[in-house]
Order: sequence, then structure tokens, then C-alpha cells
Amino acid sequence: MEQYVLYNETVTERTNVKIDMEDRGYLFGDGIYEVVFVYNQKPFALKEHFTRFEQSAAKLEMKMPYSVERFYELTHELITKNSLEHGIVYIQMTRGSGPRNHLYERNVDCAVTGFARQMQPPAEDKKNGIAVLLTEDIRWLRCDIKSLNLLGNTMAKRKAADSECAEAILHRNGTCTEGSSSNVFIVKNNVLRTHPANNFILNGITRQFILKIAEEQNITVREEAFTTSELKEADEVFISSTAQEVTPVISVKGDIEQIFEIGPVTRLLQEKLKEKINKLSEKSK
Ligand code: PDD
Repeated sequence: MEQYVLYNETVTERTNVKIDMEDRGYLFGDGIYEVVFVYNQKPFALKEHFTRFEQSAAKLEMKMPYSVERFYELTHELITKNSLEHGIVYIQMTRGSGPRNHLYERNVDCAVTGFARQMQPPAEDKKNGIAVLLTEDIRWLRCDIKSLNLLGNTMAKRKAADSECAEAILHRNGTCTEGSSSNVFIVKNNVLRTHPANNFILNGITRQFILKIAEEQNITVREEAFTTSELKEADEVFISSTAQEVTPVISVKGDIEQIFEIGPVTRLLQEKLKEKINKLSEKSK
């Protein structure tokens, strides 16, 4: 059982954590988070995740309570104390607590919490693919910030599950953006396409690795948004995220209906990402 959690700057038993009911994360969703996957007790892409964490904090004018190096140490401590073999580490930072007021102050002490959870790396979905629901993107216009405000995402995920789909792919007026908790790629005539990293999507760490791998493998990449009709005509479709790695999409329903084969580009990217995970998780620690 993963009983140790991160509470500000200590790794302690969960029962020691006291969050105030006027914590701004609780009141306003005023906070940020990261999810890191741990393979064989080693976190993958820790540096990249905390770089994005710092960027999210800066975009929201939140002050980091300590250095990213200290975040690395505490993440390792969380993994060790919980004897986490495979799974995720979740780290969250809110703008602390105070009398409820929409107006935030810039220099307040942020509250950090985090936990570890045992989880097997994805296998079934990665091998067999998933069904997705194509639905409208109703989220705000700063999806580049990994903020705690996830209602548009959670509503889409619920809607997908109600249609027997594992993920929702979102579109704004016919332009596909990303998944409810993943990035989305298509392959057409051997060209890999995904939405550019702007305010409409979260620039996934897995997405960044995939783009690097594609370049190494001489796959032509276009970071250019595609439409729902282009999605329908794609040769291959897949989603990516920390917990899902590269997961093929075998069918889409909702605003369009189509079935897809799992293709060679998807399989190659899966394999090469796994190689990077194996290599990096051997090194980092
Ligand atoms: N979600 N887009 C959204 C909206 C996401 O929530 C996520 C990840 C991604 C992929 O990012 P990355 O490759 O860095 O995991 C894209 C995490 C896993 C979550 O909220 O649990």
C-alpha cells in the first residue's frame, strides 16, 4: 500500500496531511500538477516533467516553494518509501489558502502534495488499440497550462465511457485538438501529423518524445492541426500520454464514424519509445 505522500517539503504518512478548506486549489482549482510514470522504480522523463511544471507555475505567476532539484529528490523519496515498482507519481501545487477571494496575490506560499500509485505499464490497449469518441472541445483557451481545472476534460471522458469508448478526441469547430487526457496523432501517406504546441493543447512530454523519435526515424512530421474529415481519412490514428505511451486508435464514433487498422508507423513509434524508456529509466536515478 502506498501510504507515504508528499506534503510540502516532506514525505510523510498520509494521515499527517492537513489541507485547509479554503485552499485555493479546492476553491478555484487554482493550481497545477504533473504525472510521472515510474518503471522499475525509476521515473521516466523527470526533468522534462518538472520543466513543464515550472513553466505552468510561471504562466500562473505561482512561486515555486523550492528548486526543481528538490522536487526530484522528493519524488525519488516518494518512490523509495512506497517501494513503488511500476506506477505513477502525481505532484500537485496550489496557490495555498486564505480567505476566499478571486484576486490572487503573487508572492504567497504554494502548497505541495503528491502521491504514488502502483500501476502496470499499458499492455492490452497498446497491443489491441482503443475506441474513441469524437466530441466538441468545450475547454478554456489556455490548455497549454497543466492546471487543476479539468472539468472540460472529465466531462468528455465521462461522455466517451458512456459510449463504450476509452478516450474522447476533442475538436473545436471541426479542428481536432487533443484527447481528454492525451495528445492525438494521425498518419496519412506516411506523414505524421499532430496539433502544434500552442494554447489549444497541452504539449505532452510523450508527444515531445514521439516527435524526436519520428525525426530520428526519418518520418516526415507536420505539426499542423487536422480536421475531423482528415481524421476520418487517416491511415493510422493513435493517442499518446504518460500512462498510455503510444496507444493505437481502432475506431472512432460520435461526430464521425470510422474504423482504422493499426499501422506500421504506430508500431515503430511504440517500439522506439519503449527503447527510450528502457534506456532512460536505467540511467536516471
Ligand atoms: N494527462 N493532453 C492532456 C489534456 C493531458 O491531460 C495529458 C496527460 C496529455 C499528455 O501529456 P503527457 O504525455 O505529458 O502525459 C495531453 C495526464 C497523464 C493526466 O492528467 O493524468
